[in-house]
Amino acid sequence: MDWEAMEMVCSVDFWRMAVLWTLSLLYSYVLLMLKEPLSFFRRRPCRLSYTPHLGSRLRGLGKPICIITGGTSGLGAAAARSLAGKGYCVVLAGRSPQLLSKIVDEIMEQVEDAEVEAFVVDLSSTQSIMKFKSALEQWLSDSGSHFSVQLLINNAGILAATHRLTADGYDQMMETNYLGAFCLTNILLPLLKNSPVPSRIVNVTSFTHRCVSSAQVNGGDLVKTMYYLSSSKGYPFARVYEDSKFCLLLFTYELHRRLHMIQSPHKISVIAADPGVVDTKIMRELPPCLSRLAFKALLYLRLLQTPEAGIGAVVDAALAPPEASGLYFFGGQGRTIRSSATSYNQKLADELWTSSLQLLCKANAELKLDGDFSAW
Ligand SMILES: NC(=O)c1ccc[n+]([C@@H]2O[C@H](COP(=O)([O-])OP(=O)(O)OC[C@H]3O[C@@H](n4cnc5c(N)ncnc54)[C@H](OP(=O)(O)O)[C@@H]3O)[C@@H](O)[C@H]2O)c1
Repeated sequence: MDWEAMEMVCSVDFWRMAVLWTLSLLYSYVLLMLKEPLSFFRRRPCRLSYTPHLGSRLRGLGKPICIITGGTSGLGAAAARSLAGKGYCVVLAGRSPQLLSKIVDEIMEQVEDAEVEAFVVDLSSTQSIMKFKSALEQWLSDSGSHFSVQLLINNAGILAATHRLTADGYDQMMETNYLGAFCLTNILLPLLKNSPVPSRIVNVTSFTHRCVSSAQVNGGDLVKTMYYLSSSKGYPFARVYEDSKFCLLLFTYELHRRLHMIQSPHKISVIAADPGVVDTKIMRELPPCLSRLAFKALLYLRLLQTPEAGIGAVVDAALAPPEASGLYFFGGQGRTIRSSATSYNQKLADELWTSSLQLLCKANAELKLDGDFSAW
C-alpha cells in the first residue's frame, strides 16, 4: 500500500465514508425490498415505460433529441448507447474531444441507425456552458431540426480527492456535480419547453445524499460549500461529494415544484435517478489500491453492478411517463423509492435555488455572458 493510501486509511473521514456510504446503500435496498418485496427477488419488465420517439416521429419531427453530459465514460456512455438504440438522437456533452470522438465512433459501429453528435463542454465553467448552448442552437438550426430538446440527462460528475478551484472561483466538485447542472438546465429550459412532445430532465444523483442530515444544513450553508477551502485537516472530499449530490436532489424537487405546482401543470418532467454502485472510473482520483479494494468488497457483497446494469434507473427515468415527475428512481425495473427526509425540505430547496441563481447571475455579469436567468 502506498503512502497516500496509508494516510487516507488512517483518517476519520475515510472510515466515516466507508461506513456511512455502505449503510446508505443498504438502507436504499431495504426501502426497495419493503416497498415491493416480490419485485426484489424476481425480474419483471419495467411498469413505467413511455416512448417519446413515437409521438415525435408521428409529428414528423424526426428522432427526439437527448443530451447526456459526461457521456464519454461509465454510466453516461452506457446510457448513450442504450438511448441511441431506443430511437433517440444522442448529443454527447463532454470535456475531451478525443474521448467524445471515440465514443461517437463506438456507438455508430454498435448501434444500427444511430444518430450521435458531440459537443465539448466543461460543466465546471459557466462560460463553457454558455458556449455549448450557442453551438447547440447553431447545430439545431443548421441541421433543420425542430428547435427543441426532448431529454436532458445531467450525468457528469466527479469524486475529487483534492480541493481545486474552477475559473469561476468555486469548488470543482460542487460546480461540476451541482452548479454546472443547475446552470445548464436553466439555460436549456426554453428548448425543453419548446418540445411538441413531453420532455424531461433526469438528474443522476446518489444514495450518498442520505449522509447529509438536517442538523448539518441550511440553504446558506449549502451555498458556502461552493467555496470549500482546504484546511490543515485536508479536504473532506466525501462530504463535498455527498453535499453536491444532495444539492442536485434538492434542485430536482424544486424544479419539479416550480414547473408543476407553481406554474400550471407542465409537460416537462424532472426526475432523479440513483444508479446504486457501479464499476466505473468515478474513483479514479483515489489511490488505486483503495478503489480496487472498495470495488472488491462491494462485489463480494453483491452490490457492485456493471454500467449496463447500473443504467437501469437512469434509462427508467429517461423513459418514464410525465406523471413520474418528482420521483426518485432506484434499483432498475422501473422501481422508485423515497429519498432522505431532508431532501424533501422545501424551504431548504428554495433557499438553495435563490442562492444558486445569484451565483449564476454574478458569473454572468462578471464574464459578460448573455445568459438569461430572469425567467424565475
Ligand atoms: N459509479 C457509481 O457507483 C455512481 C453511483 C452513484 C452516482 N454516480 C454518478 O453517476 C454519474 C456518472 O459517473 P460514472 O460513475 O459514470 O463516473 P465516470 O466513469 O468517471 O464518468 C464521469 C463522466 O463525467 C464527465 N465529467 C467529469 N467532469 C466533467 C466536467 N467538468 N465537464 C463535463 N464532463 C465532466 C467525465 O468526463 P471525462 O472523461 O472528461 O473526465 C465522464 O464522462 C456521476 O454524476 C456520479 O456521481 C455514480
